[in-house]
Amino acid sequence: MNHVETYPRINAILEQINVGIVVIDREYIVRYWNPFMAIHSGIPSEDAEGRTLFSIYPELNVDWFQPKLEFVRALKNLAFISWEHRPYLFPFENVRPFSGGPRFMYQNATIFPIMTGGGEVESLCIAVYDATEAAISHLKLKETMETLELKGREQEELINRLEQAQNQLLQSEKMASIGQLAAGVAHEINNPIGFVYSNINTLNGYIHDLLIAIAALDRLETGLPDDHPERVHITDLKRSLDIEYLREDVINLIKECQDGIERVKQIVQSLKDFSHVDEMNFAMADLHKGINSTLNVCNNEIKYKASVRKEFGEIPDVECMASQINQVVMNLVVNAAHAIHDKGEITIRTGQEHEGVFFEVEDNGSGIKEEHLTRIFDPFFTTKPVGKGTGLGLSLSYSIVQKHHGHLSVRSQPGVGTCFHVWLPIRQPESESETS
Ligand SMILES: Nc1ncnc2c1ncn2[C@@H]1O[C@H](COP(=O)(O)OP(=O)(O)OP(=O)(O)O)[C@@H](O)[C@H]1O
Ligand SMILES: [Mg+2]
Repeated sequence: MNHVETYPRINAILEQINVGIVVIDREYIVRYWNPFMAIHSGIPSEDAEGRTLFSIYPELNVDWFQPKLEFVRALKNLAFISWEHRPYLFPFENVRPFSGGPRFMYQNATIFPIMTGGGEVESLCIAVYDATEAAISHLKLKETMETLELKGREQEELINRLEQAQNQLLQSEKMASIGQLAAGVAHEINNPIGFVYSNINTLNGYIHDLLIAIAALDRLETGLPDDHPERVHITDLKRSLDIEYLREDVINLIKECQDGIERVKQIVQSLKDFSHVDEMNFAMADLHKGINSTLNVCNNEIKYKASVRKEFGEIPDVECMASQINQVVMNLVVNAAHAIHDKGEITIRTGQEHEGVFFEVEDNGSGIKEEHLTRIFDPFFTTKPVGKGTGLGLSLSYSIVQKHHGHLSVRSQPGVGTCFHVWLPIRQPESESETS
């Protein structure tokens, strides 16, 4: 005896239950359509029963649906398969809501086989559950997740921008304090350098006079007979003092001192420029003219290293301190030439950008190591051998561009090349151009 027969009112349950029950036979003809189905689909049981499922729902994709039904038929007994493995006919996420009835309804449906006493699959039962609440909370959750994700991305971007702003602030603060230090140092060194410089020039004159006197002594020496005591005395003295060597070396020494002091003067000048970039006047100027004249000036530094390609765009005149901007161009171009080992190319580009203009200097030289990128704008940072670079070029350029309310940025790839990008506003803010 089976348990259905022990409870004959099983039919009443099928009629009342809050689940849709559809039974179809081998030909997909509906044999049973309970009131839940009738109410929610809007199709009365007597209309549904006797028709195929595909004629009731012409929009059902037969190619998709049939394999599912056949799969279940082949399984024979689904009672022992756990619910999450039963084939869902209509998972609510990818099926249109059940409509036509009194209310809009999302549904989940499962299929299971119904056996004859002999163990044959006689028909299939489709059970349809109202999943509207779950679906709605699922959809709400999805929406919330999406907004959260969007918010997260916005926040990330904001943090990025804050970091950038902070870096810029740090850099400009560093520049300001170093500017003060540089100004002080330049001022202190300037006086001693001044008199050393002038004394060395005077000394140079004196040495020349002394050399003339020594030459006179030479003539006197050779004019005397070989065994004259004065001649012997002079010859001995000259030998013991190594006058021949001294005569040559003293000129070299003076020359080296002059070169050295010249370099120190240049460094002091750079330090002064670095700290006094605001002492000049802003005026409208043609950037192309400035670039061309700068290229002429530093032609010697670059002509054996690189060919220069100009990609000039159409740009208006810019309110700037032209000589300072030229200095930026010069620093960038000379750096580019230094970065090229054998023979390379330097490209100078100009154009309009964000209501301002830009120029950039690109080279196909050595590139800058990642760990150096954050330091190249620091004063005295250099990778060049002692005596070749002071490491002031870029820090000076940076502060000049900043005084112009512009931006100086760099992108570089080791082994490929480097590009320095300078953006300048066309006009300076009102107060700046008036006061200076
Ligand atoms: N175009 C470039 N390619 C590769 N490295 C560069 C480039 N420009 C700058 N650098 C790196 O940045 C460092 C700092 O440059 P910066 O111009 O400030 O000083 P410097 O050229 O070393 O000395 P100087 O004061 O004579 O200009 C350089 O030593 C170099 O390592
Ligand atoms: Mg340099």
